[in-house]
Amino acid sequence: MNIAVLGAQWGDEGKGKIVDLLTPNFSIVARYQGGHNAGHTVYANGRKFVLRLLPSGILHDGITCVIGNGVVVDPQALFGEIAEVEAAGVKIGSRLIISDKAHLILPYHRELDVLSEARRGERKIGTTSRGIGPAYEDKIARRGVRVLDLRRSDKLRALVERGVAHANAMLEAGGGSERASVEETLESLAAISERLLALADDVGLSVHRALKSGAAVLLEGAQGSLLDVDHGTYPYVTSSNTTSGGAAVGAGISPMAIDAVLGVVKAYTTRVGHGPLPTEFQEPLQTQVRTLGNEFGATTGRARRCGWFDAVVVRYAARVNGLSDIAMTKLDVLDTLPKIGLCTGYEIEGSLHTEFPGDLSLLENAAPKYEWFKGWQQSTGEARKLSDLPAAARKYLDRIEELVETRITYVSVGTRRDQIIGL
Ligand code: GDP
Ligand code: IMO
Ligand code: MG
Repeated sequence: MNIAVLGAQWGDEGKGKIVDLLTPNFSIVARYQGGHNAGHTVYANGRKFVLRLLPSGILHDGITCVIGNGVVVDPQALFGEIAEVEAAGVKIGSRLIISDKAHLILPYHRELDVLSEARRGERKIGTTSRGIGPAYEDKIARRGVRVLDLRRSDKLRALVERGVAHANAMLEAGGGSERASVEETLESLAAISERLLALADDVGLSVHRALKSGAAVLLEGAQGSLLDVDHGTYPYVTSSNTTSGGAAVGAGISPMAIDAVLGVVKAYTTRVGHGPLPTEFQEPLQTQVRTLGNEFGATTGRARRCGWFDAVVVRYAARVNGLSDIAMTKLDVLDTLPKIGLCTGYEIEGSLHTEFPGDLSLLENAAPKYEWFKGWQQSTGEARKLSDLPAAARKYLDRIEELVETRITYVSVGTRRDQIIGL
């Protein structure tokens, strides 16, 4: 059985923890989109790991980890991460394969990301400044450089010349002071080429063969469904398809090969960066929940914006992804609260919406409607089965299942591997 595990809110739902826990049931764990904008936290062997490009299955011996064609790869970031993980005693060896069709993030993509944000002023997205958006722009505009291009130095120069010419035109038009250089870009590629090519392969073909021989694959999403470039809160999104449709495309396999889709959600909502968040807390609750949940970005350290669980959002994510199940994380973060809100709809210009509106201007005027639940005000961190949870917590989960029309199969009650219900 092959599954996709992906975020069903705005990212940081706890995908890393869930993927790590499920990995022993699979032979291959594959990332299918995004880049090192992701930060997937796993607590294992008494340490904290934050995985950015490496699939969260990497901490398990014997698991093959794949970076699919849909991912944008910054080679420096990749090698830095490999070094970090290996320094912590993880053996990677030949377990890592990178699609030779994956596009590269080049140094000028970072410059362009920073400049484009600066030029947006008030309307900035709040990107991770990793060059993700500009690398995907070059991919779609058919001027990107792929891993396989490193094999042919004659063609590589022409590709880099084209990329640099476009980047410099953009930097100049945007009033940026930096300029990209063909020679420097080629030098930086020459420095990583041999090492990267040694990991590169036709990933779609290897995974296809593995599937035929009975291997099971876990496809790991990055970001969240509401950050999907098509289905998210555009333009306040990332530049890839984070949803389950993107999983087949980005790993290079058939959509028919995906048997189930597990959506990861937090017991509340967070978002990092700008854009609408209808259930966002006011102070002092904002600071209180941020502190309880330690809601600071795994990649950028930025404070995450927090709010009540939004069933309209997750109901929508369940639909666009075809979620078969939900894994809910961080239930323990709500343990001390006297009452808990659950958003069941939005009032917009006098009418009630229970389906997520695609038009941002509607969303910006949405007044959330809440059902209120009595807090359980006791610790859930030691619960290992649903019946260990306080009745008030079970009531909250039951109502969420009803509203989003999807069953909650796993409930996580702490950062550690053993703090899970449902395995
Ligand atoms: P990801 O990007 O979806 O993998 O999520 P992040 O790693 O960015 O953020 C999730 C954070 O919540 C991490 O710091 C995790 O260690 C932490 N976490 C995951 N599950 C739980 C849980 O059940 N309870 C608590 N308190 N923390 C959790
Ligand atoms: P994981 O995989 C949360 C957000 C950024 C910004 C927007 C666009 O850890 O859940 P980008 O750099 O991608 O162009 O930024 O997307 N963002 C994330 N938010 N979790 C992530 O990854 C994110 N990756 C990008 O904050 O709002
Ligand atoms: Mg994260």
